[in-house]
Amino acid sequence: MAAVMVLGNGGREHAIAWKLARSAAVDRVYCIPGNPGTAREPGCENLPLSPLDAAGVVTAAHTLGVDLVVIGPEAPLVSGVSNALRLAGFPVFGPDAAAARLEGSKAFAKSFMERHGIPTAAYGRFTEAGPAERYLSSQPIPVVIKADGLASGKGVVVAQTRREALEALHRFLEWGPIVIEEFLEGEEASHIAIVSDGQVLSLAGSQDHKRLEDGDRGPNTGGMGAYSPTPVLDAAMSERVGREIMLPATRGLMADGLSYRGFLYAGLMITEQGPRVLEFNCRLGDPETQPLMMRLRSDLYAVLLQAARGDALPPSLDWDTRTALCVVLATPGYPDHPLIGARIQGVPRPEELPEHQKIFHAATRASGGHLYTAGGRVLGITVLGSSVSAAQSEAYALARRISWPGLHFRRDIGWRARPGRC
Ligand code: AMP
Ligand code: GLY
Repeated sequence: MAAVMVLGNGGREHAIAWKLARSAAVDRVYCIPGNPGTAREPGCENLPLSPLDAAGVVTAAHTLGVDLVVIGPEAPLVSGVSNALRLAGFPVFGPDAAAARLEGSKAFAKSFMERHGIPTAAYGRFTEAGPAERYLSSQPIPVVIKADGLASGKGVVVAQTRREALEALHRFLEWGPIVIEEFLEGEEASHIAIVSDGQVLSLAGSQDHKRLEDGDRGPNTGGMGAYSPTPVLDAAMSERVGREIMLPATRGLMADGLSYRGFLYAGLMITEQGPRVLEFNCRLGDPETQPLMMRLRSDLYAVLLQAARGDALPPSLDWDTRTALCVVLATPGYPDHPLIGARIQGVPRPEELPEHQKIFHAATRASGGHLYTAGGRVLGITVLGSSVSAAQSEAYALARRISWPGLHFRRDIGWRARPGRC
């Protein structure tokens, strides 16, 4: 029987750990550091260690004798924790630091896409205000201003006026280089694949809801909900994304001499001209992972181990044909100033929920037998339903059982997939 280590402590990592623990080949999933959700998951155990502490993680992997390490968030990937674990001889699912620059630097990602003919928005990269302002004045409005490095979704402004664009340009330049990008019109979707040195195995398509408020209004967040499958990534469009984006990206990584064993996430705008890449991430999406793990029927451990070792991947994965939908429950003030520490009421115990419903913890703290909010996105209510509306009704019925002062969630997750949407 195998032992697996999962780095990270969010809703994505709870879903990954839960799914890995269900594999017949796995008897222990160590979550570094995990959260109160993974603490209560059968077969999972939390270890109080930072996922960024490469030396500590390597020592723990040796002590526990793990057979596979899965890295959830981007920060340990970008900082080279994969490199340290690989050097120590462990099969790791998550790319090395050099390849993780695809997510860690927007400018690196843009020149990678340019070099390998991957469709994306036109752009310019700047380190100084003068040239940036001159470029901006030649661009139509709306225009998109992005900070170059990791910014947890807060480094992007879709400016509707020149004034707004200038304000973002100056604000982001204080942090470092910026990218000014053509505004793309269309519907967003997430196409994620398991990649292993030139092999690509696509997951089912999904759609995130990045804005805070219903109708895709308000500020950008890490994601307020997601569902899978999504009509915007139907079989024909998924095939096209595979051919025009994932395959050239995987070949491009090889051509650039970058080994890549991990999830590759293409955040897409499906425009009238076809799919365009908004961003690459070198990990699974959060909250896209929660519905994806609910739908995945294949053994996650087996396929991630094959990919981590560089073995041949299966031709496809097996998915539940139902819709899985995740509603994120957030704290008041999220995303800018999340107010945390409130006592959470009404969370059913995992064993009280039917198989097709799951509450994934994203930022909770357990103390004295109670749960408290511990970050902006707190819980992900995830259900499988026979249709988007069936999944919505059940997810919202479950969400309404849970409360804390100022609890916020979107009421329209999945709206783009509903017939007669407004
Ligand atoms: P990113 O972190 O690059 O994915 O950007 C965050 C969000 O900003 C995306 O999910 C889009 O909603 C929006 N966005 C980013 N780039 C563009 C673009 N070129 N055109 C339109 N919207 C964009
Ligand atoms: N849900 C968007 C992301 O994980 O980047």
